[in-house]
Amino acid sequence: MHSKPAGASFTAPNVQLNDAGKLKHFLTTEGLSPELLTDILDTADSFISTQNRSIKTVPILRGKTVVNLFFENSTRTRSTFELAAKRLSADILNLDIATSSTKKGESLQDTLWNLEAMHSDMFVVRHSDSGAAHFIASQVTPDIAIINAGDGRHAHPTQAMLDMLTIRRNKGRFEGLVVAICGDVLHSRVARSEIQALKTLGVAEIRVIAPKTLIPKDIEDLGVRFFSNMDEGLKQVDVITMLRLQKERMQSALLPSQSEYYKLYGLSQERLGLAQPDAIVMHPGPMNRGVEIESSVADGAQSVILEQVSNGIAVRMAVMAMAVSGQQEARKAQSES
Ligand code: CP
Repeated sequence: MHSKPAGASFTAPNVQLNDAGKLKHFLTTEGLSPELLTDILDTADSFISTQNRSIKTVPILRGKTVVNLFFENSTRTRSTFELAAKRLSADILNLDIATSSTKKGESLQDTLWNLEAMHSDMFVVRHSDSGAAHFIASQVTPDIAIINAGDGRHAHPTQAMLDMLTIRRNKGRFEGLVVAICGDVLHSRVARSEIQALKTLGVAEIRVIAPKTLIPKDIEDLGVRFFSNMDEGLKQVDVITMLRLQKERMQSALLPSQSEYYKLYGLSQERLGLAQPDAIVMHPGPMNRGVEIESSVADGAQSVILEQVSNGIAVRMAVMAMAVSGQQEARKAQSES
């Protein structure tokens, strides 16, 4: 499997687009146009209204088969992809990796070929290796849409888009906003995908707030402002995204202690007071309460953390519907050529 440095891209971005520039896979937010990202948000917005009805299903993916392939643990992403597929009327298969034949040594390639033979239409993939979703997109038949549900430290594009939807629904715009991304940026695929989407959608300023040991070396090349002092970095921000301290991905001691980290980088009520009075607080989850965020902030009036989870269903419905439609267009164009 590929293993590239943080921030690197794996293939030309248009691997995920058909000849008409529509999504056929969703692997990364990198290189996508503002129009396409806005199309995802508008489509997701239209699905939010269907989620408030007593009957939440729409027949858009009736007869299609979606396979959830989660090689890494997940609560929010896996559940909301499953619900999104069901609400689009697709058949969904959750392959339980822990009890699958991968544990008998079957290769990823063989696993994919066998799932292909079951006439699947879409693989939703989470994997600990950066580049896994791109690799799978290059290995399977072109008829199968691949959706990246998080690969290593590289990308988590649907999380970024549900964050964008949450910002747009709360702030009504991207222009003029100051957004702070705080904490363990080094290990965060969410931060990378979010920075790309925020830049494309035209926010005024992106700040990254973290200790120097928890940021990638090339951080300022990404077009963000770096702050090691959280109190300075939070001044006047409109949106705060807190990141989980990813202890499982830390190969060496990057921090003195969790209590020291909380003292310097935890989002407390007092620190939140430095941001704009109507600032919103986001967190992709799972949260380490009392490590990167105080419980009273996570559950407080400015928190939109659970709204992010609800918006995840609509965004995943949008991306799945758009990718299947993009695949169909690509097949039609090929058969006519
Ligand atoms: N935000 C996110 O990816 O959460 P899960 O790991 O629970 O899917």
